[in-house]
Amino acid sequence: MRVDKLLANMGYGTRKEVKKLLKGGGVHLDGQPIKDGKVQVNTDEQEVTVHGEIVEYKPYVYLMMNKPKGVISATEDIEHHTVVDLLELEDAVYNPFPVGRLDKDTVGFVLLTNDGKLSHELLSPKKHVPKTYVAKVRGTVTADDVSQFKEGVELDDGYITKPAELIIHEAGEYSQIELTISEGKFHQVKRMFEAVGKKVVELKRISIGPLALDESLEEGEYRELTDEEVDLLQAGRGE
Ligand code: URA
Repeated sequence: MRVDKLLANMGYGTRKEVKKLLKGGGVHLDGQPIKDGKVQVNTDEQEVTVHGEIVEYKPYVYLMMNKPKGVISATEDIEHHTVVDLLELEDAVYNPFPVGRLDKDTVGFVLLTNDGKLSHELLSPKKHVPKTYVAKVRGTVTADDVSQFKEGVELDDGYITKPAELIIHEAGEYSQIELTISEGKFHQVKRMFEAVGKKVVELKRISIGPLALDESLEEGEYRELTDEEVDLLQAGRGE
């Protein structure tokens, strides 16, 4: 990769700023100063420093966010804040995007990455990557609902859902439930409960595939996935 592209990707400024940085002699490749942005760098074998500091090159970033209410899971929106607006510049420079969508009023686990291949695989309907939600539901959720969700329920557009696992934590005027689905139709959890005459009033996603939301993350906070978590996601993407 060209050194100017590498530095721009790693957040050292725009192409123009990087050019200036190179010209000023602040950049070294394996200890030798380089001024030409066109110089090719092998990131596996060579070391680039900026003002003596090693540039840790990584092509991808993987972030686990606990999305708060009122924020859109998109990269831009003219009216509302997006999950990308919540990122620090050092993470935003990788141009990550959310993998799939949560509704504006849904909270919980959003994965952000710039790894298009992984995103595609996690979202592919063929891969059946499970996602688990907890919800507060208006109405008494019953064993019959558990059976119906296992069989598949008919949504308002006639679509029959794939088998889903419903666990009742509390049943009453308002019920607390946990639901695992392996597909991602628009407003799916809300529409599944509508199909059995109930209403989701609070919804939180707590896991995606093999990864559970880190409970130490407050709403609006995020952290990078560990290498082990990235491996788990890549292994568990349903091949
Ligand atoms: N199902 C919904 O209804 N909403 C979400 O945000 C996610 C799943």
